[in-house]
Amino acid sequence: MGAMPEEIAPILEVIGSYTQKEVADNTYYEANYKGVDLVIAYSKIGKVFSTLTASTMIHYFGVETMLFSGVAGGINPQLKIGDMIVAKDLCQHDLDITAFGHPHGFVPGGSQFVKTDEALCELAFDVAKELDLALIEGTIATGDQFVHDTERKEFIEKTFNADALEMEGSSVAVVCHALNVPVFILRAISDTADTDASFSFEEFMESSAKISAAFIMKMVEKLAR
Ligand code: ADE
Repeated sequence: MGAMPEEIAPILEVIGSYTQKEVADNTYYEANYKGVDLVIAYSKIGKVFSTLTASTMIHYFGVETMLFSGVAGGINPQLKIGDMIVAKDLCQHDLDITAFGHPHGFVPGGSQFVKTDEALCELAFDVAKELDLALIEGTIATGDQFVHDTERKEFIEKTFNADALEMEGSSVAVVCHALNVPVFILRAISDTADTDASFSFEEFMESSAKISAAFIMKMVEKLAR
């Protein structure tokens, strides 16, 4: 799964042949790749659309493992443009009922952080080692905002100790957690979420999306074996 067309295009290109189905106002691509049945879609940007797509993939298509590929804004200064981060856990940085004494990112019945699947993260580090690629694991913060100012970025860094930020990971992870589907969220950095983020995003989104997608396909190959 991705959020934008550019995030799944490299995957469809590698797969080559697939069928297409329209469900719940979105297009889903089905294929068999090296013996693995795949369902591929981009959700459109943000938590609502990504929730809908993740839910549809699981409930309608019967997806048993969720792999998300895309780009993110870097917070951790170790993360440069094109570097990859695997989410160990994720939070919603814009979920705010602090007025009632709750911490940022928390609502009753939920949790401030949602974890991803440990085995899939381990698999990612095996793949990274085999290919001699750098990969860091960390916390990813999700919100319905393209962050492009230092103040907001610093708030997210301080409040959640987040390493990167984006607009879909946490909602996808919440859906998967609730429906007992192992989830893996990979992002390659397209910008650093500060004042020149929109320029950087426009320049590097496609190349970073390709880096992430290529890695996801290596994981699919590994899962096939
Ligand atoms: N995805 C990539 N860069 C981002 C940013 N700066 N804010 C939100 N989502 C992003």
